[in-house]
Amino acid sequence: MNIKNTCVIGAGIMGAGIAQIIAMHDYNVNLVDLNEEILQKAKESIRINLEKFYVAKNKLTPEKANAVLERINLKTNKHEAIEDVQVVIEAVFEDLKLKQDLFAELDEICEKSVILASNTSSLSISQIASKSKHQERIIGIHFFNPAPVMKLIELIRGKNTSEKVIRLSKEFSESLGKTVVLVNDSPGFITTRLIYVLCNEAIKLRSEGIASTEDIDTAVKLAFNFPMGPLELSDLVGNDIYLHVGEYLHEELGDCYQPSSLLKEMVNKNQLGRKTKKGFYEY
Ligand code: NAI
Repeated sequence: MNIKNTCVIGAGIMGAGIAQIIAMHDYNVNLVDLNEEILQKAKESIRINLEKFYVAKNKLTPEKANAVLERINLKTNKHEAIEDVQVVIEAVFEDLKLKQDLFAELDEICEKSVILASNTSSLSISQIASKSKHQERIIGIHFFNPAPVMKLIELIRGKNTSEKVIRLSKEFSESLGKTVVLVNDSPGFITTRLIYVLCNEAIKLRSEGIASTEDIDTAVKLAFNFPMGPLELSDLVGNDIYLHVGEYLHEELGDCYQPSSLLKEMVNKNQLGRKTKKGFYEY
């Protein structure tokens, strides 16, 4: 299959970044969201990003940056957005029912050859595909934030994903300059499952009074050569996001994934991290 035209559904942090990296590799992108205002905001963020990190650093000429922007078309109508595309990447809110219904709808309206991919960071691909008829074309293509910069893509093989769809998705991901790892479907895949356990355990150390916030982060950074400590990271990603992931992994994989009580308490007090200016640190 010759991939030329793509569709990205959801123009938030991830959808905008994914649209950008795809358009930077000469594919056309129809970027979809619920209204024009969100779409304009996403396109403006892509424009600023291209200017700041590529044009200003002489990595792209202004003409090439413009051509990237021109390849991104904004759409509120899904039917229009999926016309003549070969791949659809979904990046809407992390909500199982929302994704299940969206994939069932895409499965109805897209040509049978179109690959339907989810950028979910934790939900089972087989569960997301469970309401769709043609589950062999549904796969996880998990980008990392910021999508234009981060090298890794986790490809998630749902229980019915075909080998052909895996091969084509791998080729497509590599054409974006990414390194691909293949994961059999399981909640949290490799990366979310591991980082959640590290952060949750760090929060338990903190709540048991074993060490201070700063010392836990310093220990992890210097002992393991990590760029960031787990409590800083939890504040950056959002403590509410970790709680949401933890509750899902706990339900699907068992007790050792139970979110720590301190994490729940902080979310109840709206101490979500950087976005509320208070979490493990003050901002
Ligand atoms: P976000 O909240 O920034 O963006 C989600 C977008 O989806 C919003 O603009 C919303 O209006 C739109 N949306 C919701 N329902 C829609 C629908 N029915 N049709 C069209 N658009 C719809 O979320 P974010 O952070 O970009 O996450 C999106 C997905 O990517 C989630 O599944 C998340 O787990 C995953 N992810 C997030 C990462 C992150 O660091 N934020 C990293 C990797 C994956």
